[in-house]
Amino acid sequence: MFLSNRSRYAQNPIEEGDALAEKLAREGRNITKLNRGDPPVYFPTPEYILNAYIEALKAHKTSYTNASGVPELKDAIRMRYKKRYKLEVDSESVIVTQGVSEALSFLNEALIDDGDSAVLFKPYYPLYVPLLNLAGGKEILEKYEESRNWNIHVESLEDTLKKLKKNGAISKVKYLLLTNPNNPTGTVLRKDVLEKVVSLANEYDLLLVSDEIYDEIVYNGALFTSVAEVAKDVPFAILNGASKDFDSTGFRLGFAIIPGSDKKSMELKEKFADFARMRLSANVPAQYAFAEAISNTKEHEKSIAYMVKEIESRVNFAVSMLKENPYISIVKPNSAFYLFPKIDLKELKFSTDNEFVNKLLMEENIQLTRGSGFGAPSHIRIVSLPPKDVLGDAIGRINEFCRKSAQGSRPKKKAAKNSK
Ligand SMILES: Cc1ncc(COP(=O)(O)O)c(C=O)c1O
Repeated sequence: MFLSNRSRYAQNPIEEGDALAEKLAREGRNITKLNRGDPPVYFPTPEYILNAYIEALKAHKTSYTNASGVPELKDAIRMRYKKRYKLEVDSESVIVTQGVSEALSFLNEALIDDGDSAVLFKPYYPLYVPLLNLAGGKEILEKYEESRNWNIHVESLEDTLKKLKKNGAISKVKYLLLTNPNNPTGTVLRKDVLEKVVSLANEYDLLLVSDEIYDEIVYNGALFTSVAEVAKDVPFAILNGASKDFDSTGFRLGFAIIPGSDKKSMELKEKFADFARMRLSANVPAQYAFAEAISNTKEHEKSIAYMVKEIESRVNFAVSMLKENPYISIVKPNSAFYLFPKIDLKELKFSTDNEFVNKLLMEENIQLTRGSGFGAPSHIRIVSLPPKDVLGDAIGRINEFCRKSAQGSRPKKKAAKNSK
C-alpha cells in the first residue's frame, strides 16, 4: 500500500459536498452555500484590522519570527484574558498557532500514543475525531443532550469515567475536550454543568481542554462562562483564535493558553512550543494585525457588537421559519451561527441525513452539512450567516423540499437551473 493506513482519517464532512457543488456551479447553477462557518464572507473583516495587516507588510514584517508567537500578539492575548476572565498568565503559557486547527494537532501529537484515548462529546466539531485518530488515539464519545438544551449529560459522563477507572483504562485517557460555545449546536454550557465537568476532570485527573473559539458570539440573553473562570485548580487548556470573534478566518491564526504551573501543564506548554518550532513560525504580518484586532478594544467592541446583533437577528429569523416546518425540530441557538435541527427522516422518506443533504444540493442547489458528520445522524447543519433575503429564500426552499418529500411528490432527478 502506497498511502499510509492512517491517511484514511483525513476527511472533513463540512467540505465533502464541494466537488459536486462546484460541478453544478460550472453547469450554470447558482449554489447557496450554507455549509461553511466563514464570517468574513458576509461580514467583511474590519478596516482597522486590514490596515494593521498592511502596516505590518509595509514595515517588512515578513521574515520568520518567534515560533510560538510575536510578543505583541502574546501580550494582547494575555491582556484579553486578564480583562475578560481575570486569568493571569505568563508569556510561556500562550502559544500562537496556525488556527485552532493546528492547536488541536499539537494537542494530539503531544499527548496521544497508540491505544490512548480522549473524551469527546457528540455532536462534535468534525476535526476532533480524525486528528485524534491520526495520532493513534480512539474517541470515547459522551454527549451533549438535545433534550437538555444540548447541555452535557453529566451523569453519563460520570458513569463512563467510573467504569474506565474500575477497569484500569482511565490512565489511557489523555484529555477531555469541550466546545463552548458550541459548533454545531449553538449552545453555551450552563455554569453549573461546567463546574460539574471541572470537578470530574479533577477527580479523575484528566486534562480539561476547552475550545472557546465563539466566546464573544453569544446572544439571546445567554451567559457564557469560560473554563478559565471555573477551572482554577485543574490542568486545563483554552483554545481560541482570530477566525470567528475577530472575523479573520483567512489569517489562519489561533492560540492555546495552558496556564497551570503543575507538572502536566508545564510539560504540555513546553511540548507545544517544540511543535511550534518545527514549523518555524505562524503567519507573521497576520500576527501583528491580530494583535491590533485584540488590543484596539474600542474598534473591536464596535465591530463585534454589530456582528453579534446581526447574527442574533438572522439566527432567530431562520429559526422562526424552520419552526413552520412540521418535519423539523430545533433547539434555539444562543451562540455561534449555526442551526442544528433534527429532521424526521422517516416522514421525509430518506434513509440517512447524507441522502437528504445530497438530494437537497442536487434538487434545490443548497449545500448544507449532514449531522452524521458531527456524530449526530438525523440532523443537518445550516450556517446562518447570510443576510435574511438569502437565508429566507434558502429556508423557504428547504421547507418546501421537505413538504414535497413527505408527500412523495419530490421531483426525481430534474433540477431547475438557477433556481435561486
Ligand atoms: C469549534 C471549532 N473549533 C475549531 C475551528 C477551526 O478554527 P480555525 O479557523 O482557528 O482553525 C472551528 C471552525 O469552524 C470550530 O468551529
